[in-house]
Amino acid sequence: MEEEIKKTAKKNTVENQILVIFGSNGDLAKRKLLPAIFQLYLDNLLPERFAVVGAGSQEKTEEINREDVRNSMLEFAKAGAAENPQKLEEFLAHVYYQKVGNQTEEDFGKLKKYIDKLSRKLDVPQNIIYYFSIPPFLYEVVAAHLVKYGLNTEENGWKRIIVEKPFGYSYDTAIDLDKKLRSGFNEDQIYRIDHYLGKETVQNIMVTRFSNGFFEPIWNRKYVDRVEITAAEKIGVGDRGGYYDTSGAMRDMIQNHLLQVLAVVAMEPPAIFDSESIRNESVKVLQALRPIKSNEINENVVRGQYIETLVDETIQKGYRQEKGVAPSSKTETFVAMRVFVDNWRWGDVPFYIRTGKQLPDRVTEVVIHLKPAPHQLFKQRCVAQSTNMIILRIHPDAGVAVDFGMKIPGAGYKVQNVNMAFHYSDLASNKISEAYERLLLDCMIGDSTLYARADAVKASWKFVDPILQAWKSHNSEIPLYFYECNTWGPKEANALFGNKELKWRAPFKKFKTE
Ligand code: BG6
Repeated sequence: MEEEIKKTAKKNTVENQILVIFGSNGDLAKRKLLPAIFQLYLDNLLPERFAVVGAGSQEKTEEINREDVRNSMLEFAKAGAAENPQKLEEFLAHVYYQKVGNQTEEDFGKLKKYIDKLSRKLDVPQNIIYYFSIPPFLYEVVAAHLVKYGLNTEENGWKRIIVEKPFGYSYDTAIDLDKKLRSGFNEDQIYRIDHYLGKETVQNIMVTRFSNGFFEPIWNRKYVDRVEITAAEKIGVGDRGGYYDTSGAMRDMIQNHLLQVLAVVAMEPPAIFDSESIRNESVKVLQALRPIKSNEINENVVRGQYIETLVDETIQKGYRQEKGVAPSSKTETFVAMRVFVDNWRWGDVPFYIRTGKQLPDRVTEVVIHLKPAPHQLFKQRCVAQSTNMIILRIHPDAGVAVDFGMKIPGAGYKVQNVNMAFHYSDLASNKISEAYERLLLDCMIGDSTLYARADAVKASWKFVDPILQAWKSHNSEIPLYFYECNTWGPKEANALFGNKELKWRAPFKKFKTE
């Protein structure tokens, strides 16, 4: 065992370890985390000796817990579980349970004893990941309890914590939360998960940019006219109204996922491809975001909320009718904004970001609109407006496409836009891993590249916080636009372009020329 502990400094191997999931009976654990761990097991990526310890507030036996996990797998890891019943049983043998009330200090003493015993029994060093799959107000409580019982000390193996978003509710609360976590854990032990960074297709943005010679030379203010980033969802808030009403699209999607995507699109190439170098570059983008003052909000930010709508002869609830939502709520379910990155590469290039619920499709994509050719020889002969775009499609139909003008065969020089596309689905090996699989494995290895660093979280809060505050304090002066379900949000979002000719791209399920 001692030998193994010495090896713990070695990175990039999945050492024998224990994963403790606080909130193991909750939705996230059942739907995403446990199926992701099971998939890693099926892919032979887990170490020889490992244990997944559920730490939940319910009192239950190991056997009942295994039965619960089995049921979750059959429901949420459907194909994997049904096709590999024997593997499922083998996996369940690695699953354990200990009742832990997050607010009950003594339970952490019991957890300590449980882990000591388990680690001896399985001969696994105390390399432990604590996954905080719990409501954010409990993060600091659980962290403090872990510290109190020495569950954070590293003499007998490394310790890491994974925290889910939201990391704070505002700039001040984010700083405060960080301080509290840092009183028991170092920055390199804290893994702030942003599942967008775990998406294969978001990582591919870096590969597309930095492994090819032809994208980078044009990836700057000289050639790029504007960038659009869209994360559209077809569904409403469903049964998450209670959480969502205190959050809204700005905190739920923009502060974290979309600003992280923007950072990946806009960052400088790192000198070396390691966690710190990559994150050093992406944080610089967030720090360079041009602040939006309260008197500039109306021309740079549009907020909206969906209303009751008849769609295909079915009534879709309005946001205010959703369970858990205040009947006069002014929480935004749509945000579109114009953002500038004030640095050498991007000076004055607008980045348009948009996200919303109850839109016509679930589509996430980045579109780089290039400037037109300097001299328009075929201007009069274009059938469609000639635009050059690079589309980085995150989902669905993940891939990369380039739009450009081509001559329509026949007499004369008529020009039409065409689209050259790479679809992930065309690859021989086209299994795209779930974000949680990749991120959990990275944490097990000790690779934090795809996790948000404290300074990045702070920089993105610094940018969005004044907007949120202005919405709150000048509520009546800053409009909340209502939009019908199954539309692309309030039409006012197009005014952000400040040019009547331009509007948001309507993304198609399969990307193709407009
Ligand atoms: C979550 C948000 O972080 O991301 C949800 O809380 C949102 O409101 C979800 O629906 C979107 O993720 P994805 O991967 O479906 O685009």
